[in-house]
Amino acid sequence: MENGQTESDPKDLLFEKHVNYVTNHGNDKNDFEYTMTEFLRMSGIYWGTTCLDIMGELDKLDKLSIIGFIKKCQCIKSGGISACEEHDPHLLYTLSAIQILCTYNALDEIDVASVGKYVQSLQQPDGSFFGDKWGEIDTRFSFCAVAILALTNQMDLIDVDKAVEFVLSCGNVDGGFGSKPNAESHAGLIYCCVGFLSITHNLHRLETEKLAWWLCERQLKSGGLNGRPEKLPDVCYSWWVLSSLTIMGRSHWISGEKLKEFILSCQDTETGGFSDRPGNLPDIFHTLFGIGALSLLGYPNLKKINPTFCMPEEIVEKLYKVQIMDS
Ligand code: FPP
Ligand code: ZN
Repeated sequence: MENGQTESDPKDLLFEKHVNYVTNHGNDKNDFEYTMTEFLRMSGIYWGTTCLDIMGELDKLDKLSIIGFIKKCQCIKSGGISACEEHDPHLLYTLSAIQILCTYNALDEIDVASVGKYVQSLQQPDGSFFGDKWGEIDTRFSFCAVAILALTNQMDLIDVDKAVEFVLSCGNVDGGFGSKPNAESHAGLIYCCVGFLSITHNLHRLETEKLAWWLCERQLKSGGLNGRPEKLPDVCYSWWVLSSLTIMGRSHWISGEKLKEFILSCQDTETGGFSDRPGNLPDIFHTLFGIGALSLLGYPNLKKINPTFCMPEEIVEKLYKVQIMDS
């Protein structure tokens, strides 16, 4: 077997171990990893709540303290939300916060109208979005912007046509997308652009066959998926690639059985949690994307996940109708 996989790797989902791993993550506030990840705390909470919700165990986390934390992270001046108290707001953490609030059905706990104004303030004349006031442009931010506005029902605040033209200008001859015009295709950014087009109901603008082929070629002999040619497989790409294929109605173009085996082999049998590839240390990011991809594959006893928003389908269904292609 390749890439550190062994015959003794787990063949089933270690359900209880993962619930404990996610529930206890961040309990030790003096922990080195906890301190070092302050800059993405809000996304860490989104990864944890979503993962537990997909496993039907959301009540293991303290809803009130999570909502209290989000309220403290909203910037009164701009309306944007930061990763952690006293950090600058950013579209990435604003989306994570909105996703958590949707999960808890608690959007009314913050000033949603000023979140909308924050997103609106970051759109540029060419339709692209700054991630924050410092002005970096990336298709990730186009996805975050429309995802926030869709979940909060404020899409009319931006120029959607211009936003679509910018994302399409980041498409490449291989059918994929990069972070900006002429940047190389990358599966993470393909997820952002395909997700963006499913939210804005523009999937017909994709070169579907070409892109689906490029995505299929990400599957390696181990069953795992990589993010670009010549790269190693990584559990998070199970999500970025499979969710894109699912939105495009082409998830059956890869071997789901082999991918499932690869994902299950990335579980930590002692602590719980998933790592990027077999034998490495687990983390909460790869744990969400491992469980999320298993949900897309129809793994038993997991709630169905929405491939565009990476949130339980039952929550997204109540808020927004994404476009999905027929298979
Ligand atoms: C890989 O990044 C992943 C991406 C570029 C996609 C990130 C997507 C978002 C931030 C949108 C929000 C996501 C969800 C699930 C709602 P990397 O920097 O790890 O890439 P590398 O593997 O090339 O280092
Ligand atoms: Zn990864």
